[in-house]
Amino acid sequence: MTGELSPIDKAKFVAAKRAAEFVEDGMRVGLGTGSTAAWLVRCLGEMVREDGLRIRGVPTSTRTGQLAREAGIEVITLDEARWLDVTIDGADEFDSDLNLIKGGGGALLQEKIVATASDQMVVIADAGKEVGTLGAFALPVEVIPFGASCTRTLIEETLVSMDVLGRQVSLRMNGDAPFMTDEGNHILDLHLKRIGNVRQLSLVLNQIPGVVENGLFIDICDTVVIGYGDGRVEVR
Ligand code: 5RP
Repeated sequence: MTGELSPIDKAKFVAAKRAAEFVEDGMRVGLGTGSTAAWLVRCLGEMVREDGLRIRGVPTSTRTGQLAREAGIEVITLDEARWLDVTIDGADEFDSDLNLIKGGGGALLQEKIVATASDQMVVIADAGKEVGTLGAFALPVEVIPFGASCTRTLIEETLVSMDVLGRQVSLRMNGDAPFMTDEGNHILDLHLKRIGNVRQLSLVLNQIPGVVENGLFIDICDTVVIGYGDGRVEVR
C-alpha cells in the first residue's frame, strides 16, 4: 500500500496507521477528508478486507465516501448512524490545547458536524501542523453564495473591530469559478496570521448572517496522533 514514501507522506501514513488502532469491531466511524485522512481510509479498508474488521463509516465529503467504498468500507449516512463511536480526521493546524484549524480541503462543515456527533475525535497530523498560536494557516469560513460579497464585507468589518493582526479575506477559487463545497456553498479564507482569542472569533463569525460555519474546532478534538518523517508516532 505504501511503496517508497516521501517523509511527509510517511508521517501522514504512520499517524493514520496508529490512529486506526482506535477503531474496534462493530464501531461506527467518522471518516475525515484530506490526504492524511485518505491514508486512514486505506488502512481501515485493509483491516476490513484482510482482518475481517466490521465497521460502518460516515464520510465527511463526497470524495471520502468514494474512497471508502473503493476500499471496501460500508458507508452509511450520519442520520443512519445517529451517533458515532469515533471520528478520525486530519487538520491544517493544532495547538497545545488541541484546538484546530480545519477546512483546507473545503469539507469543514460536514467535518464539524460529524466530529461533534462522535464520542471522541482523533486528529491525525504530520508534525508540521503543530503551532504555538493558531492562524498562520488561513481560516476557512463557509458562506452561502447568496450575498457572499456582503457577507465578506461584514466579516472584514468584524475583523477590524476585533483588532486582529491580519485582515485579508479571499474567496477560494477553483480555476475561474468560486470553489463549491459539497453543500453548494463558497469558502472565504481569512488570512489572520495569529488568532488571539479563538473562542471569541469563532462565536462572532458564526453570528454573521450568511456564514454557515468556520474552520475553528474548539474543544472538539480529544487526541492528536502526530506522525514524523522518520516513522515515529506520538499520541497526545
Ligand atoms: C479538509 C480538512 C483536512 O483535514 C485538512 O485540510 C488537512 O488536510 P491534509 O491531511 O491533506 O493536510 O480539514 O477540509
